[in-house]
Amino acid sequence: MHSPVRVGLMGLGTVGSGVVEIMAKHAEQLAHRSGGPIEISRILVRDASKTRSVPVALERITTDAGEILDDPSIDIVVELIGCPGGRVEPARSYIAGALERGKHVVTANKDVIAKHGRELIQLAREHRVGLYFEAAVAGGIPIIKSIKEALVANEVQAIMGIINGTTNYMLTKMAHEGRPFEEVLREAQEMGYAEADPTSDVEGHDAAYKLAILASLAFETPVAVDDVYREGITRVTPEDMAYADELGYVIKLLAIAKAHEETIEARVHPTMVPKEHPLAAVNDVFNAIFIEGDAVGELMFYGRGAGKLPTGSAVVADIVEAAQNIRRGVDGRLGGAVREKRVLSPLEVVSSYYVHAKVVDSPGVLAQIAKAFGDHEVSISSVIQKGRGEDPVSLVFVTHKVLERNMQAALKQIAALPVVRSVANVIRVEGE
Ligand SMILES: NC(=O)c1ccc[n+]([C@@H]2O[C@H](COP(=O)([O-])OP(=O)(O)OC[C@H]3O[C@@H](n4cnc5c(N)ncnc54)[C@H](OP(=O)(O)O)[C@@H]3O)[C@@H](O)[C@H]2O)c1
Repeated sequence: MHSPVRVGLMGLGTVGSGVVEIMAKHAEQLAHRSGGPIEISRILVRDASKTRSVPVALERITTDAGEILDDPSIDIVVELIGCPGGRVEPARSYIAGALERGKHVVTANKDVIAKHGRELIQLAREHRVGLYFEAAVAGGIPIIKSIKEALVANEVQAIMGIINGTTNYMLTKMAHEGRPFEEVLREAQEMGYAEADPTSDVEGHDAAYKLAILASLAFETPVAVDDVYREGITRVTPEDMAYADELGYVIKLLAIAKAHEETIEARVHPTMVPKEHPLAAVNDVFNAIFIEGDAVGELMFYGRGAGKLPTGSAVVADIVEAAQNIRRGVDGRLGGAVREKRVLSPLEVVSSYYVHAKVVDSPGVLAQIAKAFGDHEVSISSVIQKGRGEDPVSLVFVTHKVLERNMQAALKQIAALPVVRSVANVIRVEGE
């Protein structure tokens, strides 16, 4: 057996304590699988006096990051402090500092990787160490390793994922119980699934960060968070849910990335998915990622996208891989950009659409709207009309695939028609 590989753990919150628990429970197997013992020798926290949910020796706890970064006996730094208040510091500096000192780094920090991954991978390359971030996307699901290693023989053509558990829980409740967004959000907050400030989840920011990481890796091209088109779920109503059901769809917050010859697209938005699509059956807080590769065809990964032990599982797997690489004297597979594909603007993307218009109940309305669609080469695949004799009545259309630029022009014309009270909602349709 080799001498121990030493870990400096930064953060002992939800994920950090999961890592400590798993490493204690499986110490023997992990030593066997990585070729020697792995030891957590120092743990950084904010408040050393806090009672911890896992047993850790007090003398290992520190509030001084330097005691980890400047300790030459520490081989791997595991950054699990996150970005409280959305701030990437000090996590980014700690990761960079560890890499500069020749330490391998494992992190679960999607914000830092999505915003600074490119420069950190470069830093790791310069210092011949590994940077591992399996837990940053979809918690316990081993999607990063699958893209980088198991799918290495493929050109990935498309990714469609449910990668935010909070919104998936909310949309599942709205669909199954017919309840409105605000009510379901309050319940998710009471159950601890949604934060007091839910913006990052419900407006799609969290999913956009994760998609930027996935798309960069899968397409080997830089994708910045700002390149990802983003729409949240706040405008999805029980009425839309009921129409989706009637038309044979469910509504999910999907993160979608597609590769074209010279370009890619990356977007996060509420999406109608056919009920028979594998993603339609992914409910509650579960995550799933559907991938198409040119050789392998369609694949789907399903599991828990968050939580102490699922996320801890991904972090510990990265620690073991880093320990194996240290013992073999190799740097670890870093991946990164090898090409520069342009990211399409939303207006250049092709999709089908669900359009819900509130209109005056009079003869000829349908013809006027159909004409506006036709003027912009939007063809309609189905129509539902509800609420005869009421004012307004709902007219619901599903279109065939169309360029978003044409769709926007048609919607502008429709909204301006005197017989149209409002365009209540527009939701993209995918997966047919
Ligand atoms: N929770 C999940 O299910 C999940 C899933 C996937 C990814 N992640 C990612 O994993 C990371 C950790 O998340 P978490 O849920 O475990 O967070 P958490 O429960 O809030 O724990 C954060 C830990 O970091 C420490 N900390 C925070 N700021 C610090 C600073 N400036 N200096 C020193 N220590 C500091 C805290 O110390 P004290 O304990 O003393 O306050 C705490 O132990 C984040 O990047 C998150 O996005 C989490």
